[in-house]
Amino acid sequence: MTLRDAAAQVRENAYAPYSRFQVGAALRTPEGAVHVGCNVENVAYPEGTCAEAGAIAAMCAAGDREIAEICVIADSPEPVPPCGGCRQKIAEFARPEVVVTLCTTDGKEKRMTVAELLPGVFTQAHMART
Ligand code: THU
Repeated sequence: MTLRDAAAQVRENAYAPYSRFQVGAALRTPEGAVHVGCNVENVAYPEGTCAEAGAIAAMCAAGDREIAEICVIADSPEPVPPCGGCRQKIAEFARPEVVVTLCTTDGKEKRMTVAELLPGVFTQAHMART
């Protein structure tokens, strides 16, 4: 199964009664394991948890720590880029050159790198003097 197919499949499980905007994400590790996540909203925080954050949580829960490739899919007119918080979460586990593929359910695709999504990323190196 392609990463896009895995993301599209898990998107079907998204719990998005407030935004009605279902998102799926699938990532592959360097070892070839695939981890998936969907957005999950709640009444107190209607934006809920993003699909990308869900996939990253599943990856960590499985004991993996590195993203080699990640794909996000939504039923939007144009491929939806990850929110600011998710960009930082992806950058925590992916090298700057890792490809993030943004897809729409009707077949559009946009490929970006982690560095393009989050230029000037805050890293541990910025805390070198502490
Ligand atoms: N959402 C994601 O899951 N990933 C994104 O990249 C963009 C936004 C979700 C969060 C919320 O449940 C809904 O989409 C609307 O913001």
